[in-house]
Amino acid sequence: MAAETLTITDNRTGKTYQVAIRDGAINALDLRQIRVSEDDLGLAAYDPGFMNTASCYSRITYVDGDRGILRYRGYPIEQLAEKSTYLETAYLILYGELPTKSQLAEWTRNITLHTILHENIKKIIDAFHHDAHTMGMLISMVGALSTFYPESKNIFDAESRLKQTHRLIAKMPTLAAFAYRHSIGMPYAYPDNDLSYTGNFLNMLFKMTELKYQPHPVLEKALDVLFILHADHEQNCSTNAMRGVGSSHVDPYSAIAAANAALYGPLHGGANEQVLKMLIEIGSKDKVPAFVEKVKRGEGRLMGFGHRVYKNYDPRARIIKRTADSVFEVKGRNPLLDVALELERIALQDDYFIRRKLYPNVDFYSGLIYQSMGFPVEMFPVLFAIPRTSGWIAQWEEMLLDSEQKLARPRQVYKGHETRDYVAVEKRG
Ligand code: ACO
Repeated sequence: MAAETLTITDNRTGKTYQVAIRDGAINALDLRQIRVSEDDLGLAAYDPGFMNTASCYSRITYVDGDRGILRYRGYPIEQLAEKSTYLETAYLILYGELPTKSQLAEWTRNITLHTILHENIKKIIDAFHHDAHTMGMLISMVGALSTFYPESKNIFDAESRLKQTHRLIAKMPTLAAFAYRHSIGMPYAYPDNDLSYTGNFLNMLFKMTELKYQPHPVLEKALDVLFILHADHEQNCSTNAMRGVGSSHVDPYSAIAAANAALYGPLHGGANEQVLKMLIEIGSKDKVPAFVEKVKRGEGRLMGFGHRVYKNYDPRARIIKRTADSVFEVKGRNPLLDVALELERIALQDDYFIRRKLYPNVDFYSGLIYQSMGFPVEMFPVLFAIPRTSGWIAQWEEMLLDSEQKLARPRQVYKGHETRDYVAVEKRG
């Protein structure tokens, strides 16, 4: 069998080094021994955006971007979307195995019992301006939760971690719904523990004067499928933020606030919001070719297209497209769907997109569903953040319990000035 090593010759010195290969990767620290002089810090790998750097070993989510495969703990996303529920999938992601019947019942009960927020949270929301972005409110509120639960700092206490896990998964929908109700000037609707996870979320968002809110089963199911699809996606930008911030051993609420902030950006979870704005801007099918030409000239991007990992159709986009049909049957066809379908059709035939392997991603169709369900665009990234919470916590816990993990602190290649002397202000040219 060939040796699992890499031989490197440094042409600056003529020296040769053997570096071990483990699971298809070399340890970047092994490059440190490659130096030109005693005071040289050693060879570093330069990799902005972590294009080819594995930051961890993980057993949670598998993505094969070339073949369009996504699995949580080995289970294909297609099977989970069809047969599981979000809470069951969250359990799977966190614990590594599907729950037994009694484990699922206990897990569901624990989440359901933690949906209520401390009343003081309402005072924080009330302080926001009426047109504050719901994602901005969510980031602040989830960060504020750390002050309500100071014991959450005990991150190496498994019982405490479990308690915060229940709280976070349970309270994210309540925080999101309260932020939404604040933005539309409606009184907060409290959780209804008789309803499912997504049924209760719809209740807290849309309950009016009725005594008991009854979620539409198709919409409840559609939202649940969307939540399953968004639950985890290995080392994406927000998960990297969760792990990176969590590596300082801060409490999980503060780390989740950071992950939410990363998700908010238009290149990540904010893309679904941008997709809808783009479709509205295009307006009609006949304007699609001109828009695509603009994108090809470098004037903006086709939002909801392209992915760092998927160089094939995002498997989540395929499932979402089917889910959209079920929602449109209840709520009527979203007129922007025709624009989206035309955009996809033209882009998938165009050499620019083919050569760069740009396909629809998870955000391309999700916004259309959310809009049809009555959500304003500002809620789109929030709808991403709620289910991703289980993934963030699983990844955070995996990082904490991994003895090889350390405080996340990359190196840099310094290109600035050498030392120079301070010049008094009156002497500067
Ligand atoms: N529209 C037009 N051109 C694009 C797009 C796009 N959506 N995405 C990438 N390209 C082009 C780039 O201009 C570049 O072309 P060049 O080689 O001629 O310079 C090439 O494709 C490679 O693009 P990069 O930006 O280097 O690829 P990267 O892997 O860094 O980008 C990203 C991935 C950020 C997702 C990108 O495809 C993008 O901006 N997409 C639109 C935003 C979006 O939908 N984000 C959601 C991603 S899914 C998620 O986060 C949940």
